[in-house]
Amino acid sequence: MILIIDFGSQYNQLIARRVREAHVYCQIDAPWISLGQIRALSPEGIILSGGPASIYEKGSPSIDPGIFDLRIPVLGICYGMQYMVDALGGEVTKAEKREYGFAELHMKDAAGLFEGIEEQTRCWMSHGDTIRRLPKGFRITASTPNTRVAATENASKGFYGVQFHPEVVHTPKGKKMLRNFLFRVCGCSRSWTMKSFIKESVQEIRSVVGDKKVILGLSGGVDSSVTALLLHQAIGKQLTCIFVDNGLLREGEAEQVKGLFRKHFKVNLRFISARRRFLNRLKGIVDPEKKRKIIGRTFIEAFEGEARNLRGVKFLAQGTLYPDIIESRSAFGGPSAVIKSHHNVGGLPRKMKLTLIEPLKHLFKDEVRVLGKELGLPEDLIWRQPFPGPGLAIRIIADITQARLSILRNVDRILLEEITNRGLYKRLWQSFAVLLPLKSVGIMGDQRTYEHIVAIRAVTSTDAMTADWAKLPHALLGRISNRIINEVRGVNRVVYDISSKPPSTIEWE
Ligand code: XMP
Repeated sequence: MILIIDFGSQYNQLIARRVREAHVYCQIDAPWISLGQIRALSPEGIILSGGPASIYEKGSPSIDPGIFDLRIPVLGICYGMQYMVDALGGEVTKAEKREYGFAELHMKDAAGLFEGIEEQTRCWMSHGDTIRRLPKGFRITASTPNTRVAATENASKGFYGVQFHPEVVHTPKGKKMLRNFLFRVCGCSRSWTMKSFIKESVQEIRSVVGDKKVILGLSGGVDSSVTALLLHQAIGKQLTCIFVDNGLLREGEAEQVKGLFRKHFKVNLRFISARRRFLNRLKGIVDPEKKRKIIGRTFIEAFEGEARNLRGVKFLAQGTLYPDIIESRSAFGGPSAVIKSHHNVGGLPRKMKLTLIEPLKHLFKDEVRVLGKELGLPEDLIWRQPFPGPGLAIRIIADITQARLSILRNVDRILLEEITNRGLYKRLWQSFAVLLPLKSVGIMGDQRTYEHIVAIRAVTSTDAMTADWAKLPHALLGRISNRIINEVRGVNRVVYDISSKPPSTIEWE
């Protein structure tokens, strides 16, 4: 495995992605990891990430310099290189010119990191500090017009540093450089595959769970579905999945989950019909935060009620992913402000004295999809766009009624049919409809109409933290609008949402 030390770079997860793509397992850890912990992990190599700090600033992040005596190869990227140079006796100062963007990189020779790469290539720079003096034993291996020490090495010790970012696509040969580090310098083998992951996880789950029982809240999304199948493979009927039908799902969704998991995969599934309970409690509620709180509370209550009926349950499984883990323990502060209260089962484990089990917690989303495929999940579920826990309730900008839900379900189905037929479904982060139960005047045939408005929302994004409104083709928007107004009674106007996040959010409530 490769250990990546997080000095706060925005590209950290990208470094990890690159390593994993090369079929080498890696883990991101904070700089205060101890030498003992590093020895226990016994990595084949260590990558020191970039970061926003300056090495000569007070309080700039640092790791125990004892890592340089462990006989483990080290690659420092940007701040990571400056840290290594400083720790080993070199000197880093402020650069005369900040360098940001593309730069021409001239290699001194094609060895080490640069094996098999032509003498001149482009690289991506983003730094304000530069190396004045190298530590003993180091030499310059590449320069750019503005940066003399764009890359350095002490090959006999296995220490390499680059000022630029090999992990970003703007450094076209960056992947090759990282692979040179992994395979030529560290001698890693290509052992990280989803098949090997399944084998190891199944063993681990069995040894942790023993003969006890596990419960899991299945939502029909990709993360909880993959978690369910992985656990099912490991412990079969010791797993019970609980699916709460809150009456706020899209058309056919509850039935699909039931059919797939219970009939097809033969998973132990408790299906709770709680439609009426949810809708009764939501009656007359317009305030978005109130809706979310009611839905969250009712969900936990329904889930807990069912879980209490089961004997011998010791574990609660969740489909937590690696980015959540990294964010939540990041030393440099992830996005922490609660803009909307998200609904989850967070309070449950402590209340019910359950131990959490999170078998996907080292995986990235795209790895979860590959894993899902390996476990036999159908394509349409693997590529399902995110759907919020509170469901359609936060896409009806008013109080929730059966009639409104029914209109929105119909609209949503048409929208998704059209988006899918145009081959755009996978390329959009989310595409959905919002019902605005305002009325506006229209004309159909010779008749005046006075009906609701529907807004279409389609966004592109990589992580939902920011999002751009999708530039859908006008012809497609026209077709969607025509079909909705013609086929869904109660709607006579369709508008397109052209706001990005920030300042808007993806969902309307
Ligand atoms: P916003 O609207 O905050 O949404 O830009 C960001 C992403 O989160 C999803 N979302 C939720 N997911 N429970 C969830 O599981 C929730 O309560 C919730 N609210 C928003 C939203 O669909 C988008 O992908």
